[in-house]
Amino acid sequence: MHAEGASHKPKCPEGPVSILILGASGDLAKRKIIPALFALYCQNLLPEKFQVVGFARSRMSDEEFRGMATENLTCRYAPGNSCGELMEQFLARCFYFQGQYNSPESFRLLRERLLPLEGNEPTNRVFYMAIPPSVFLDVARSLKQAGLVTDGGASPWSRAVIEKPFGSDRSSSDEMVRNMAEVFEENQTYRIDHYLGKEVIQNLLVLRFANLIFDPIWNRAHIENVQISWKEDLSVEGRAGYFDGYGIIRDVIQNHLLQILALIAMEEPVSLHAKDIRDEKVKLLRSIPQVELRHVVVGQYAEGVWKGVRKAGYLEEEGVPKGSVTPTYAAAVLHVANRRWEGVPFLIRAGKGLNDRMTEIRIVFRETPGKLYDDALHEPVRNELVIRVQPDEAIVFRIMNKTPGLEMKLGISELNLRYQAAYRVEIPDAYECLLLDVLEGDESLFIRSDELAAAWDIFTPVLHRLEEERVQPEPYAFGAEGPLAAAGLAGRFGTGWR
Ligand code: BG6
Repeated sequence: MHAEGASHKPKCPEGPVSILILGASGDLAKRKIIPALFALYCQNLLPEKFQVVGFARSRMSDEEFRGMATENLTCRYAPGNSCGELMEQFLARCFYFQGQYNSPESFRLLRERLLPLEGNEPTNRVFYMAIPPSVFLDVARSLKQAGLVTDGGASPWSRAVIEKPFGSDRSSSDEMVRNMAEVFEENQTYRIDHYLGKEVIQNLLVLRFANLIFDPIWNRAHIENVQISWKEDLSVEGRAGYFDGYGIIRDVIQNHLLQILALIAMEEPVSLHAKDIRDEKVKLLRSIPQVELRHVVVGQYAEGVWKGVRKAGYLEEEGVPKGSVTPTYAAAVLHVANRRWEGVPFLIRAGKGLNDRMTEIRIVFRETPGKLYDDALHEPVRNELVIRVQPDEAIVFRIMNKTPGLEMKLGISELNLRYQAAYRVEIPDAYECLLLDVLEGDESLFIRSDELAAAWDIFTPVLHRLEEERVQPEPYAFGAEGPLAAAGLAGRFGTGWR
């Protein structure tokens, strides 16, 4: 997100920078971070002087690291002959250092390796923690001890990028925030929720606040309910160790979906500066009462057949403890207790092992009052604004329209803005946008500590109850719509999932 307004063009951040990837041999580094850096490089959006230094436990030479890094680089921004050349130039700035996360000595040696690469120039540093949270603190302290981290506000700057899980409830999250603050001040801490870097999510505030038409109808008088759906037709894919201790509410709902909800429901910020946007989000999150257990449905995928292939159930996955009650699906109804939203249910659901891969927001409007078209309508209908985050990014407004012909017959039509057809441009990956913001020092798309606390407050009590009471998730076949009870939950609020 860029504060300078409608015509802001990203510019190459100033000053030399070292980008240290802690956990450089892992999936996140390979699939997302390094390809995003290459994409920025191709668009001339990395400083002239930069180096990418990978740090991890595996033994690897620089050459092997470069080989690994190449696997996922794409020529999206550099088609044709220039791509190979750009790749070579980029990889020549990638280095690898092997060490142990819990060994201050490894970080001392890392410093010895890094300083000659940086030369004598004061160099800014990004520390991307692509590592398990259990070693965040060790690594942060060792970085500090090794003299690699400057203070907040200092020049050259040091910034830490961390990825969820940020704790597993309000108190563990607070503890992590407190501990990490020993090393990185809040203004040096970039907590990623990668959904905030997605194109359509970044458009939510534009849609709401740059278009007058939505303003008068964006409230309880006109909106009957809001639905946010997240579906994946994948299993936990070898991540059972992490997922089982965590579950879908912490994995997707408490962060990605709650952030979407906040952007849909918050008030207009005073400006587009990070502080103002995050202030409004915090205010909104604090207006959401804790979710009640009776407003939550949990499910777990069982064996099923999806796209003609037999898929194992969650309990059969390697690493899942026998009898685990970890939900792979959850639906919940939230409320926003303020003047704009009182009485409007926000229905949110997320599931793995479902029959689709998509993320979608639906603003469901109230029925049009009066009887004027009762004879021409064959079912009760209402307007809907559908915002498709992925795949096939789109904004669709479902309206009532006269079906062409001599008869007066009404039907639903769609005013359809499909990104693919409307904009012939590459849609950047969320990580490209977020990494550029880190380099530019723009924190608006990152989660501030009070925002994180407010988000945990909403879900912590229900998560504790689900676990203490070992609430049994309803099984659903892999490739199905999800547990049947989810429909019942929506029904209790006078609606159905759309
Ligand atoms: C991550 C979750 O945050 O988001 C994963 O931990 C999930 O479980 C992933 O698969 C989905 O991200 P995307 O960008 O592919 O929708």
